Amino acid sequence: MNQIYLLNILVILESIVLLVISILLFSKTKNLTKLKQYEEEFIKSQAKKQATQDDFLPMLVHELRSPLSVIQGAADLLIKSTDDLSSEQIHTLLNQIKTSSSTLLGMVGSILDVSKMESGRFEINKTFSDINPVLRDECSYFDSLAKIKEIALDCQTDEHLPSFNFDPERIKQVLNNLISNAIKFNTSGGSISIISKKVDGACRVEICDTGVGISDKEKPFLFQKFFQASNQDGVQKGTGLGLVISKGIVEAHGGKIWVEDNKPKGTKFIFVIPTK
Ligand SMILES: Nc1ncnc2c1ncn2[C@@H]1O[C@H](COP(=O)(O)OP(=O)(O)OP(=O)(O)O)[C@@H](O)[C@H]1O
Ligand SMILES: [Mg+2]
Repeated sequence: MNQIYLLNILVILESIVLLVISILLFSKTKNLTKLKQYEEEFIKSQAKKQATQDDFLPMLVHELRSPLSVIQGAADLLIKSTDDLSSEQIHTLLNQIKTSSSTLLGMVGSILDVSKMESGRFEINKTFSDINPVLRDECSYFDSLAKIKEIALDCQTDEHLPSFNFDPERIKQVLNNLISNAIKFNTSGGSISIISKKVDGACRVEICDTGVGISDKEKPFLFQKFFQASNQDGVQKGTGLGLVISKGIVEAHGGKIWVEDNKPKGTKFIFVIPTK
């Protein structure tokens, strides 16, 4: 009797152990399925990223070819028809060569900067300076372009900002890209403010515009190589490298750059660089 009783207990115990093992196995399988799903999603997103970058290479080469063709065409005309051209026509052709060469140089410079950043060979030359004159210089440099587009451009500098170590040429490059974007993605009657502020142990610079803005959906991709938002209507297309380079430069200074909405309209790019 006792033996039967013991046997029953053993069977019950065995069933309980089996049940626990099944539950454990079931939850492990669920985890594995989840893991598999994550893996598939990751592979898909990587493939998509690679595809956009691969798609862009032919486009980039094409972009490089357009200014080159203009240079070649203008130079051909100058060589073959010098005697038939008026001095005004020669001047126009030379101007086309100059503008296209600058565009080409700019593009090649951007590609080189990005490749240096990606391989960790990007260097900055810091000097102890005041950032406010750099901001004011950039503001006056863009003033005529802003006026042509009927956009008001103003610069508000915080005179309490201390001098600190930064690379003025590279910071100019960041401002150049942010201000040219603020003009490019703006409309007649709009405005742009360039503001410097002293914050705790750092210098904060804001470039605020009342332009077309960027959707929340697209904001997370802004600092990715070659990314261009769906707001390019009526805009001369760039290479989509300006923000990547700006981020690389700000980070090389130990700083941070990000984007926010400019209330009630437009976009605000902010970067902060430590002053100590
Ligand atoms: N101030 C802004 N307002 C609205 N959209 C902006 C603004 N700044 C950047 N963007 C969006 O972010 C994209 C990426 O900007 P980025 O400066 O990297 O490239 P780009 O201006 O298109 O080309 P590049 O600067 O290389 O000539 C732009 O194409 C645009 O869609
Ligand atoms: Mg740009």
